[in-house]
Amino acid sequence: MAGTAERIRQLKAERNAVILAHNYTSPEVQDIADLVGDSLGLSIAASRTDAEVIVFCGVSFMGETAKILSPEKTVLLPVPDAICDMAAMCSAEDLMKAREEHPDSVVVGYVNTTAEAKSHMDICCTSGNALKVVSSLAEDDEVLFVPDRNLGSYISKRLPDRRMVLWNGCCPIHDRITADDVRRVIEEHPGAPSMAHPECRTEVLDMVGFVGSTEDMLRFCRTSDADEFVIVTETGMRHRLESELPGKRFHFIESAVCEPMKRIGLDDIARCLDDMSGEVTLPADVITAAQNPVRRMTEMK
Ligand code: 13P
Ligand code: SF4
Repeated sequence: MAGTAERIRQLKAERNAVILAHNYTSPEVQDIADLVGDSLGLSIAASRTDAEVIVFCGVSFMGETAKILSPEKTVLLPVPDAICDMAAMCSAEDLMKAREEHPDSVVVGYVNTTAEAKSHMDICCTSGNALKVVSSLAEDDEVLFVPDRNLGSYISKRLPDRRMVLWNGCCPIHDRITADDVRRVIEEHPGAPSMAHPECRTEVLDMVGFVGSTEDMLRFCRTSDADEFVIVTETGMRHRLESELPGKRFHFIESAVCEPMKRIGLDDIARCLDDMSGEVTLPADVITAAQNPVRRMTEMK
């Protein structure tokens, strides 16, 4: 493995590339990356980098979002067919139909969607700024929120006066975590602060002390005096937390694994940097139409 890591470093310098990795990727991928983070942080980094090539270690919508923000750059996906299950639940065609059914609604779309779907949104958001994005809209605007019904319900509960129509999508990995799963891990670690990702169901979110994006969780654990935490999200987050906060302990629901994220390995990164394969290409009209909603998202931190 040391050989592959060294080869990646060489190729990265030759190509003037930056490697971005999501918090759910495997430990070896996180360790080779220049930046590891949540969807919002990585999108902002992709929009600001001076590198000519962005290697995006994440599911395909993440690379597409980077391309929308930096169309002049080459964006490579080490495993282009690693697809987020939730993004596959909201086609551009279905979204266009829904827009026709709700002509006066503002379409707020979670970043976990295809570029084509984004081209039919008014504003995008991530789990890190969804509440801020919806709060920023005019009070009497109706919101059509797509595609995560759990994140949508969470916002709707926090903003009870806001009229919201929710799409019926979800992240299967977070959605299948039950209240019993969470109760068990909380009971095993009494006194440990607990937190969950807003892609979890309402009954799960109601059980924890804090709800936030993966990076919000890291911030919470960093500033807390506690040394043990219950973390209800995908297990890749453990490596990020343990690397940043050595000495603290993190307890997960071990079945919460995003298989598409785990498909990305060092060999894939080396290969795409070597032969420049896995390039994200998007139609110019999709980039143009998706740019405004995605830029608005990155401006709301
Ligand atoms: P974050 O933006 O919180 O990292 O979440 C991304 C994601 O895909 C969660 O399942
Ligand atoms: Fe998509 Fe769920 Fe994986 Fe996040 S954890 S990338 S929402 S499938």
